[in-house]
Amino acid sequence: MSAPILSIRDLRVSFPTPAGLVRAVRGVNFNLEPGELVGVVGESGSGKSVSFLSIMGLLPPHAQVSGSAILAGQEMIGVDRDTVRRMRGKKVAMIFQDPLSALNPVQRVGAQIVEMIQSHQHLDDDAAHARAMELLDLVGLPQPDVRARQYPHQFSGGMRQRVMIAMAIANDPDVLIADEPTTALDVTVQAQILDVIQEIRRMTDTAVVFITHDLGVIARIADRVEVMYAGNCVEKAPVGDLFAHSNHPYTRGLLASLPVVGRDRLSPIVGAPPNMLAPPEGCAFRPRCPHAADECRGASGELVQAGPTLSACVRISEIGVSR
Ligand SMILES: Nc1ncnc2c1ncn2[C@@H]1O[C@H](COP(=O)(O)OP(=O)(O)O)[C@@H](O)[C@H]1O
Ligand SMILES: [Mg+2]
Repeated sequence: MSAPILSIRDLRVSFPTPAGLVRAVRGVNFNLEPGELVGVVGESGSGKSVSFLSIMGLLPPHAQVSGSAILAGQEMIGVDRDTVRRMRGKKVAMIFQDPLSALNPVQRVGAQIVEMIQSHQHLDDDAAHARAMELLDLVGLPQPDVRARQYPHQFSGGMRQRVMIAMAIANDPDVLIADEPTTALDVTVQAQILDVIQEIRRMTDTAVVFITHDLGVIARIADRVEVMYAGNCVEKAPVGDLFAHSNHPYTRGLLASLPVVGRDRLSPIVGAPPNMLAPPEGCAFRPRCPHAADECRGASGELVQAGPTLSACVRISEIGVSR
Protein backbone atom coordinates (compact mmCIF):
# COMPACT_ATOMS: atom_id res chain seq x y z
CA MET A 1 0.00 0.00 0.00
CA SER A 2 1.28 3.49 -0.84
CA ALA A 3 1.56 6.28 1.73
CA PRO A 4 -1.82 7.92 2.37
CA ILE A 5 -2.37 11.30 0.76
CA LEU A 6 -4.56 12.21 3.75
CA SER A 7 -4.16 10.77 7.20
CA ILE A 8 -6.48 11.88 10.01
CA ARG A 9 -5.72 10.84 13.59
CA ASP A 10 -7.99 11.30 16.61
CA LEU A 11 -9.74 14.33 15.16
CA ARG A 12 -12.00 16.06 17.67
CA VAL A 13 -14.16 19.13 17.11
CA SER A 14 -16.35 20.84 19.69
CA PHE A 15 -18.40 24.03 19.58
CA PRO A 16 -18.99 26.07 22.71
CA THR A 17 -22.65 27.18 22.73
CA PRO A 18 -24.86 28.83 25.35
CA ALA A 19 -26.34 25.38 26.05
CA GLY A 20 -22.92 23.78 26.54
CA LEU A 21 -20.23 22.12 24.46
CA VAL A 22 -21.48 20.47 21.25
CA ARG A 23 -19.14 17.53 20.69
CA ALA A 24 -19.50 17.22 16.93
CA VAL A 25 -16.48 15.03 16.11
CA ARG A 26 -15.16 12.66 18.77
CA GLY A 27 -11.98 10.93 17.68
CA VAL A 28 -12.13 10.22 13.95
CA ASN A 29 -9.34 8.27 12.24
CA PHE A 30 -9.33 8.25 8.47
CA ASN A 31 -6.88 7.33 5.71
CA LEU A 32 -7.14 8.17 2.03
CA GLU A 33 -4.81 6.60 -0.52
CA PRO A 34 -3.81 8.50 -3.66
CA GLY A 35 -6.47 8.17 -6.35
CA GLU A 36 -9.06 6.31 -4.27
CA LEU A 37 -12.69 7.32 -3.78
CA VAL A 38 -13.93 6.91 -0.22
CA GLY A 39 -17.55 7.44 0.71
CA VAL A 40 -18.36 8.90 4.12
CA VAL A 41 -21.95 8.13 5.04
CA GLY A 42 -24.17 8.78 8.05
CA GLU A 43 -27.38 10.51 9.11
CA SER A 44 -27.59 14.27 9.23
CA GLY A 45 -25.68 15.64 12.23
CA SER A 46 -23.20 12.74 12.47
CA GLY A 47 -20.18 15.01 11.99
CA LYS A 48 -19.36 14.38 8.34
CA SER A 49 -19.16 18.00 7.22
CA VAL A 50 -17.51 19.30 10.38
CA SER A 51 -14.75 16.66 10.11
CA PHE A 52 -13.72 17.76 6.65
CA LEU A 53 -14.38 21.48 7.09
CA SER A 54 -11.89 21.36 9.95
CA ILE A 55 -9.20 20.08 7.61
CA MET A 56 -9.98 22.86 5.15
CA GLY A 57 -9.71 25.48 7.89
CA LEU A 58 -13.31 26.47 7.17
CA LEU A 59 -14.88 26.15 10.62
CA PRO A 60 -15.94 29.23 12.58
CA PRO A 61 -13.05 30.57 14.71
CA HIS A 62 -14.65 29.55 18.00
CA ALA A 63 -14.56 25.83 17.07
CA GLN A 64 -12.22 23.79 19.28
CA VAL A 65 -10.24 21.40 17.09
CA SER A 66 -7.64 18.84 18.13
CA GLY A 67 -5.90 15.85 16.61
CA SER A 68 -3.97 15.62 13.39
CA ALA A 69 -4.71 15.67 9.67
CA ILE A 70 -1.69 15.31 7.43
CA LEU A 71 -2.46 16.15 3.82
CA ALA A 72 0.27 15.68 1.20
CA GLY A 73 2.83 15.83 4.01
CA GLN A 74 1.43 19.00 5.59
CA GLU A 75 -0.28 19.14 8.99
CA MET A 76 -3.62 20.95 8.58
CA ILE A 77 -4.79 21.09 12.22
CA GLY A 78 -3.55 23.76 14.59
CA VAL A 79 -1.34 25.46 11.98
CA ASP A 80 -1.53 29.10 10.88
CA ARG A 81 -4.28 30.25 8.53
CA ASP A 82 -1.84 31.13 5.72
CA THR A 83 -0.51 27.59 5.54
CA VAL A 84 -4.02 26.17 5.31
CA ARG A 85 -5.02 28.79 2.74
CA ARG A 86 -2.00 27.90 0.60
CA MET A 87 -2.97 24.22 0.65
CA ARG A 88 -6.61 24.97 -0.15
CA GLY A 89 -7.23 25.05 -3.86
CA LYS A 90 -3.76 23.74 -4.61
CA LYS A 91 -3.56 20.43 -2.73
CA VAL A 92 -7.13 20.06 -1.53
CA ALA A 93 -10.42 21.48 -2.78
CA MET A 94 -13.99 21.11 -1.60
CA ILE A 95 -17.35 21.23 -3.33
CA PHE A 96 -20.67 21.67 -1.56
CA GLN A 97 -24.36 20.93 -1.86
CA ASP A 98 -25.12 24.51 -2.85
CA PRO A 99 -22.72 25.78 -5.50
CA LEU A 100 -24.49 29.12 -5.73
CA SER A 101 -23.23 30.06 -2.28
CA ALA A 102 -19.65 29.41 -3.38
CA LEU A 103 -19.85 31.31 -6.69
CA ASN A 104 -19.68 35.07 -7.01
CA PRO A 105 -23.09 36.16 -8.39
CA VAL A 106 -21.75 39.30 -10.10
CA GLN A 107 -18.70 37.84 -11.81
CA ARG A 108 -18.75 35.90 -15.07
CA VAL A 109 -18.15 32.19 -14.60
CA GLY A 110 -15.08 32.10 -16.84
CA ALA A 111 -13.42 34.94 -14.95
CA GLN A 112 -13.98 33.12 -11.65
CA ILE A 113 -12.22 30.04 -12.97
CA VAL A 114 -9.37 32.13 -14.41
CA GLU A 115 -8.96 33.83 -11.03
CA MET A 116 -8.84 30.48 -9.27
CA ILE A 117 -6.16 29.25 -11.68
CA GLN A 118 -4.07 32.40 -11.36
CA SER A 119 -4.25 32.38 -7.56
CA HIS A 120 -2.05 29.29 -7.54
CA GLN A 121 -0.32 29.13 -10.93
CA HIS A 122 1.77 31.67 -12.81
CA LEU A 123 -0.17 31.64 -16.06
CA ASP A 124 -0.86 34.71 -18.21
CA ASP A 125 -4.46 35.61 -19.06
CA ASP A 126 -4.51 33.74 -22.39
CA ALA A 127 -3.05 30.56 -20.94
CA ALA A 128 -5.35 30.72 -17.92
CA HIS A 129 -8.36 31.28 -20.19
CA ALA A 130 -7.38 28.31 -22.34
CA ARG A 131 -7.05 26.19 -19.23
CA ALA A 132 -10.48 27.36 -18.02
CA MET A 133 -12.03 26.24 -21.34
CA GLU A 134 -10.30 22.89 -21.01
CA LEU A 135 -11.68 22.48 -17.49
CA LEU A 136 -15.24 23.38 -18.51
CA ASP A 137 -14.97 20.87 -21.32
CA LEU A 138 -13.64 18.23 -18.92
CA VAL A 139 -16.67 18.61 -16.63
CA GLY A 140 -19.00 18.27 -19.60
CA LEU A 141 -20.26 21.83 -19.89
CA PRO A 142 -21.54 22.32 -23.46
CA GLN A 143 -20.28 25.39 -25.36
CA PRO A 144 -17.66 26.40 -22.78
CA ASP A 145 -16.74 29.60 -24.65
CA VAL A 146 -20.35 30.86 -24.53
CA ARG A 147 -20.95 29.65 -20.98
CA ALA A 148 -17.77 31.27 -19.65
CA ARG A 149 -19.23 34.70 -20.42
CA GLN A 150 -22.41 34.05 -18.43
CA TYR A 151 -23.21 34.61 -14.76
CA PRO A 152 -23.97 31.86 -12.20
CA HIS A 153 -27.73 32.59 -12.15
CA GLN A 154 -27.90 31.71 -15.85
CA PHE A 155 -26.92 28.12 -15.04
CA SER A 156 -29.09 25.21 -13.88
CA GLY A 157 -28.22 23.49 -10.58
CA GLY A 158 -26.41 20.66 -12.34
CA MET A 159 -24.47 23.02 -14.61
CA ARG A 160 -23.45 25.12 -11.61
CA GLN A 161 -22.18 22.05 -9.85
CA ARG A 162 -20.11 21.27 -12.97
CA VAL A 163 -18.62 24.76 -12.76
CA MET A 164 -17.80 24.21 -9.08
CA ILE A 165 -16.06 20.96 -9.94
CA ALA A 166 -14.08 22.74 -12.68
CA MET A 167 -12.96 25.34 -10.14
CA ALA A 168 -12.14 22.71 -7.56
CA ILE A 169 -9.84 20.79 -9.91
CA ALA A 170 -8.39 23.92 -11.57
CA ASN A 171 -5.07 23.55 -9.77
CA ASP A 172 -4.93 19.78 -9.90
CA PRO A 173 -5.43 19.06 -6.18
CA ASP A 174 -4.38 15.73 -4.68
CA VAL A 175 -7.66 15.51 -2.77
CA LEU A 176 -11.19 16.57 -3.68
CA ILE A 177 -13.71 16.67 -0.85
CA ALA A 178 -17.27 16.50 -2.16
CA ASP A 179 -19.83 17.28 0.56
CA GLU A 180 -23.29 16.14 -0.59
CA PRO A 181 -22.66 17.61 -4.07
CA THR A 182 -25.69 15.88 -5.59
CA THR A 183 -28.16 16.08 -2.70
CA ALA A 184 -30.02 19.11 -4.08
CA LEU A 185 -30.20 17.73 -7.64
CA ASP A 186 -32.85 15.56 -9.23
CA VAL A 187 -31.96 11.95 -9.87
CA THR A 188 -30.95 12.25 -13.54
CA VAL A 189 -28.71 15.24 -12.93
CA GLN A 190 -27.32 13.56 -9.83
CA ALA A 191 -26.24 10.59 -11.96
CA GLN A 192 -24.55 12.93 -14.45
CA ILE A 193 -22.58 14.66 -11.71
CA LEU A 194 -21.47 11.32 -10.29
CA ASP A 195 -20.26 10.42 -13.78
CA VAL A 196 -18.29 13.67 -13.97
CA ILE A 197 -16.60 12.93 -10.65
CA GLN A 198 -15.75 9.40 -11.77
CA GLU A 199 -14.41 10.73 -15.05
CA ILE A 200 -12.21 13.32 -13.36
CA ARG A 201 -10.81 10.77 -11.07
CA ARG A 202 -9.98 8.52 -14.03
CA MET A 203 -8.31 11.35 -15.94
CA THR A 204 -6.44 13.06 -13.08
CA ASP A 205 -6.01 10.43 -10.37
CA THR A 206 -7.35 12.85 -7.77
CA ALA A 207 -8.36 11.11 -4.54
CA VAL A 208 -11.96 11.86 -3.58
CA VAL A 209 -13.79 11.96 -0.25
CA PHE A 210 -17.48 11.73 -1.08
CA ILE A 211 -19.72 12.77 1.81
CA THR A 212 -23.39 11.78 1.63
CA HIS A 213 -26.31 10.59 3.73
CA ASP A 214 -27.34 8.41 0.76
CA LEU A 215 -26.07 4.82 0.65
CA GLY A 216 -27.42 4.49 -2.89
CA VAL A 217 -24.95 7.12 -4.06
CA ILE A 218 -22.14 5.38 -2.17
CA ALA A 219 -22.95 2.08 -3.89
CA ARG A 220 -22.60 3.76 -7.26
CA ILE A 221 -19.41 5.63 -6.77
CA ALA A 222 -17.19 4.57 -3.83
CA ASP A 223 -14.31 2.10 -3.55
CA ARG A 224 -14.46 2.12 0.21
CA VAL A 225 -16.96 3.34 2.79
CA GLU A 226 -16.69 4.82 6.26
CA VAL A 227 -19.91 4.95 8.27
CA MET A 228 -20.21 7.77 10.80
CA TYR A 229 -22.50 7.94 13.82
CA ALA A 230 -22.56 10.68 16.47
CA GLY A 231 -19.10 12.00 15.70
CA ASN A 232 -17.36 8.64 15.37
CA CYS A 233 -16.61 6.21 12.61
CA VAL A 234 -18.46 2.98 13.47
CA GLU A 235 -17.66 0.79 10.47
CA LYS A 236 -15.26 0.80 7.51
CA ALA A 237 -15.16 -1.59 4.58
CA PRO A 238 -14.68 -1.92 0.84
CA VAL A 239 -17.98 -0.92 -0.72
CA GLY A 240 -19.09 -4.42 -1.81
CA ASP A 241 -18.36 -5.87 1.63
CA LEU A 242 -20.28 -3.14 3.41
CA PHE A 243 -23.41 -3.90 1.41
CA ALA A 244 -23.06 -7.70 1.53
CA HIS A 245 -21.46 -8.25 4.96
CA SER A 246 -22.10 -5.29 7.18
CA ASN A 247 -21.03 -5.90 10.76
CA HIS A 248 -22.45 -3.01 12.73
CA PRO A 249 -26.11 -2.74 13.83
CA TYR A 250 -26.21 0.91 12.71
CA THR A 251 -25.02 0.09 9.20
CA ARG A 252 -27.41 -2.85 9.08
CA GLY A 253 -30.17 -0.45 10.08
CA LEU A 254 -29.24 1.98 7.33
CA LEU A 255 -29.24 -0.84 4.78
CA ALA A 256 -32.63 -2.11 5.97
CA SER A 257 -34.08 1.34 5.47
CA LEU A 258 -33.02 1.49 1.80
CA PRO A 259 -35.79 1.17 -0.76
CA VAL A 260 -35.35 -2.14 -2.53
CA VAL A 261 -37.35 -3.49 -5.45
CA GLY A 262 -39.62 -6.29 -4.22
CA ARG A 263 -39.62 -5.14 -0.62
CA ASP A 264 -42.74 -3.13 -0.04
CA ARG A 265 -42.09 -1.90 3.47
CA LEU A 266 -39.04 0.10 4.57
CA SER A 267 -37.81 -0.37 8.11
CA PRO A 268 -36.28 2.90 9.23
CA ILE A 269 -34.07 2.92 12.32
CA VAL A 270 -36.23 3.78 15.33
CA GLY A 271 -35.46 6.83 17.43
CA ALA A 272 -33.27 9.79 16.64
CA PRO A 273 -29.52 10.51 16.70
CA PRO A 274 -28.25 11.61 20.13
CA ASN A 275 -27.99 15.15 21.41
CA MET A 276 -24.33 16.02 20.88
CA LEU A 277 -24.33 18.19 23.99
CA ALA A 278 -24.47 14.96 25.99
CA PRO A 279 -23.85 11.92 23.77
CA PRO A 280 -24.39 8.53 25.49
CA GLU A 281 -21.30 7.03 27.12
CA GLY A 282 -19.76 4.05 25.33
CA CYS A 283 -21.47 3.15 22.06
CA ALA A 284 -23.57 6.16 21.05
CA PHE A 285 -25.93 3.96 19.02
CA ARG A 286 -26.86 1.99 22.16
CA PRO A 287 -30.22 3.75 22.83
CA ARG A 288 -31.47 2.86 19.33
CA CYS A 289 -29.81 -0.51 18.96
CA PRO A 290 -31.97 -3.68 19.03
CA HIS A 291 -28.96 -5.62 20.34
CA ALA A 292 -27.79 -3.25 23.07
CA ALA A 293 -26.57 -4.76 26.35
CA ASP A 294 -24.74 -3.54 29.45
CA GLU A 295 -21.29 -4.05 27.94
CA CYS A 296 -22.10 -1.43 25.26
CA ARG A 297 -21.78 1.27 27.94
CA GLY A 298 -18.07 0.51 28.15
CA ALA A 299 -17.45 0.29 24.39
CA SER A 300 -14.24 2.13 23.44
CA GLY A 301 -15.19 2.81 19.83
CA GLU A 302 -12.09 1.00 18.61
CA LEU A 303 -12.59 -0.61 15.20
CA VAL A 304 -12.00 -4.37 15.19
CA GLN A 305 -11.95 -6.76 12.25
CA ALA A 306 -15.32 -8.52 11.86
CA GLY A 307 -15.59 -10.60 8.72
CA PRO A 308 -14.45 -8.34 5.87
CA THR A 309 -15.20 -5.08 7.69
CA LEU A 310 -13.79 -3.10 10.61
CA SER A 311 -16.52 -2.59 13.20
CA ALA A 312 -16.82 -0.67 16.46
CA CYS A 313 -19.60 -2.97 17.74
CA VAL A 314 -18.42 -4.85 20.86
CA ARG A 315 -21.27 -7.34 20.58
CA ILE A 316 -20.88 -8.27 16.93
CA SER A 317 -19.71 -11.85 17.74
CA GLU A 318 -22.87 -12.46 19.81
CA ILE A 319 -25.13 -10.79 17.25
CA GLY A 320 -23.55 -12.72 14.39
CA VAL A 321 -20.63 -11.80 12.16
CA SER A 322 -21.40 -11.76 8.46
CA ARG A 323 -18.54 -13.20 6.43
N1 LIG B 1 -21.04 26.16 14.16
C1 LIG B 1 -21.61 25.22 14.90
N2 LIG B 1 -21.96 25.46 16.18
C2 LIG B 1 -22.51 24.50 16.96
N3 LIG B 1 -22.76 23.25 16.53
C3 LIG B 1 -22.45 22.94 15.26
C4 LIG B 1 -21.85 23.90 14.38
N4 LIG B 1 -21.63 23.30 13.18
C5 LIG B 1 -22.08 22.04 13.31
N5 LIG B 1 -22.56 21.82 14.54
C6 LIG B 1 -23.10 20.54 15.07
O1 LIG B 1 -22.14 19.54 14.86
C7 LIG B 1 -22.77 18.28 14.60
C8 LIG B 1 -22.21 17.72 13.31
O2 LIG B 1 -22.64 18.52 12.21
P1 LIG B 1 -22.26 18.19 10.70
O3 LIG B 1 -20.83 17.79 10.60
O4 LIG B 1 -22.71 19.35 9.91
O5 LIG B 1 -23.19 16.92 10.40
P2 LIG B 1 -23.39 16.17 9.00
O6 LIG B 1 -22.55 16.82 7.96
O7 LIG B 1 -23.00 14.74 9.27
O8 LIG B 1 -24.87 16.27 8.74
C9 LIG B 1 -24.26 18.56 14.58
O9 LIG B 1 -24.76 18.21 15.84
C10 LIG B 1 -24.34 20.05 14.34
O10 LIG B 1 -25.51 20.59 14.90
MG1 LIG C 1 -23.15 17.80 6.25
